This record gives sequence, structure tokens and C-alpha cells, in this order.
Amino acid sequence: MKRSFPREAQWVMTYQCELNRVSKYCSLGSHGREEASLQEKLAAIKILEAIGVKTLKLLGGEFFDQSGAEEILGALNASGLDFVITTNALAERRILAFAGSALFKPGSGLFFSLDFLDKRFTAGGCSTVKTLAAIELIPKLAELPFPPLLGVNTVIHNKNLGELPGILRWITGYNGYMNICPLIWGDWQKFIYRAPGKDMALGPEHRRCVAETMNVLSALKRQGCNLACSQRYVRGLADACCGGERFAWDCGSLKRLPLLRVDSDLSLMVCSDIRGEDVSKFRLDDLLDERHRAGFIEAWLNDADRTYCAENFGCYWSNMLRAVENFSNGGSFIK
Ligand SMILES: C[S@@+](CC[C@H](N)C(=O)[O-])C[C@H]1O[C@@H](n2cnc3c(N)ncnc32)[C@H](O)[C@@H]1O
Repeated sequence: MKRSFPREAQWVMTYQCELNRVSKYCSLGSHGREEASLQEKLAAIKILEAIGVKTLKLLGGEFFDQSGAEEILGALNASGLDFVITTNALAERRILAFAGSALFKPGSGLFFSLDFLDKRFTAGGCSTVKTLAAIELIPKLAELPFPPLLGVNTVIHNKNLGELPGILRWITGYNGYMNICPLIWGDWQKFIYRAPGKDMALGPEHRRCVAETMNVLSALKRQGCNLACSQRYVRGLADACCGGERFAWDCGSLKRLPLLRVDSDLSLMVCSDIRGEDVSKFRLDDLLDERHRAGFIEAWLNDADRTYCAENFGCYWSNMLRAVENFSNGGSFIK
């Protein structure tokens, strides 16, 4: 396979999430599509391998709230893919059982949503529930004889800036990694993921504090803390995200597809936010055919929804920028 195709993929394996019942914080549940069956999901893992994907991030929805999670985990573990699951930590007993029976091969594991450490702090919505669960579970996983790769995904907003250095030191103490991503916002009916409102977003009034906090994180990374983002990403965050009107980074100038994004029905997507008028006509198994693969890349580069977003909104999704930066060496969860 020519190296014009990404080696990194993300898959919204399910939109099911028990937290949808208790919180309106995340609107992803309402975007659910007819989901692939267990057999189709198992076959899709083989397709990803066959088309040269090496690293796979599983998002949702909640991985552990879908039926067949154990079988899927077994298939991932037996595959040639390195994988991480982003999870809300609520399935504590099952996660400990999976991890305890070595269902995570070395280099694969779990990233937990964790937005603060001070238990008096609350961002509201399901962020609080998930964070409290992760604070309890991570130390237990770290104590296992063969712990999985551990990490936290911290969404940066205008309330938790002061929490970030402490989170980085804390997770490093458990040999885990911290990924950061600003709260991505923007209101367009085609957005699936990002928050429509700006109330918790970073804005011009936060720029100084964001820049100072990023300097601290960058220094901690230099001192050996496990920040799973590049120095370039960290240093660029204040300028890219505090403009007030839009994000200063966008994917409009990219000349190649950085990341393969798969939806729960195995159709393909532009990115976390957008299905894409042209891109969504392709399905994962189309990529087994070289002509379709070329057509898909063409569709991604020219998709009108992608161009519209780039011109009007932009983003600073850590996964997207990481994939762009790591394209040549094959992707990574921790760089
Ligand atoms: C929607 S969750 C789904 C995966 C899993 N169930 C969980 O709770 O971690 C995926 C990650 O995206 C983050 N996220 C959700 N909305 C976001 C936004 N608008 N901007 C940046 N990150 C966001 C969440 O905090 C979480 O860490």
C-alpha cells in the first residue's frame, strides 16, 4: 500500500452510552446511526489491518456499554493493531476484569475522561461523574501486575485551567499519559460532536492565563512528565483557541488525508465533527479496493462540508493535529 494512506484510525464503535440517561452534557447519543452488528465489527477490525492501519482509537458513545465488548476486545488484542479505548470509567468491575486478565496487549489500553482532580470542583454534566469515577479507577489499574497503557483525556475549558498541571503530575505518578484538547465549539447543524455554545469555551479574556498554563505544561513535559501532545501543539493552543470568533487552525490547507474516521455503521467520516456529503458515501470495506481508496481520498480533500467548516469555524482537535504531525512515522497515542 502506498504511504499516501493514513496508518491511524478512529472509530465511533457505538453511540450507546448509559450516561445519556442521566445527563444532557453530551449530545452524541442523539446522533446514533444503525450500528454495525458484532460480526461486522469483528470483520471491520480485519479490514483496518488489511488496509495498513496500525493505531486505532475507539471513541463513542461508551465502548463498555455495547454488547460484545469482551469479544471485540479479544479480537483487538489478537490483531496487529495498537489500540486505546476512551472510556468514562463507569464499568469499573468489568474494566478491572478485562485488564486483570491481560486483555490489553503492551502499548494498548485505556484513556479516561478526566477534567479535574479537586473533588470540590465541578464542571457539571457528565464530566463530573466520569472524572470522579476515573480518579477512583486509575490507581487500581496502575497496581495490576501488567497494567494496560493508561491515560487521561482532559478537555480544557475556562473553568479548569488551574487543574491542569496537577492532573499532569498525578497521571505521570501512575505511569500514565495526559492528552489535552480545548473545548471545541461552534454552531452548525452538520456538527456531530462539538459543543454549540461558547459558555465554557476559551476566549480572548482567557488568552493570558491559557498561555501561562501551557508554558507550565510544556515545562513539565521537558522535565519528564507524560504529556501526550507535542510541544508545538501545547505552545500553539492559546493563539489557536482564544480568538473568540473561530479557531485559528483549520484543515483547509492539508494536501493529504491525515486520519481515517469510521462511524458506527461503518460509513466513513471527514473528522469527529462532520460526516461529509461526499465522504459519507464511502464505507470501510470500499477501502479494500485500490480505486475506491483513491476516490475516497479525493472525496475527503474536496468535500464541501470540510471546506465550509475550515473557512468558517476551524478546530484544534488534538487527534487531528497529532495525526498531521505523526503522519510519516505512523501515529502515536502518546507523543
Ligand atoms: C464523548 S466522550 C466518549 C468516550 C467515552 N464514553 C468517555 O466518556 O470518555 C469522548 C471524549 O471527548 C471529549 N469531548 C466531548 N465533547 C467535547 C468538545 N466539545 N470538545 C473537546 N472534547 C470534547 C469528552 O470529554 C471525552 O473525553
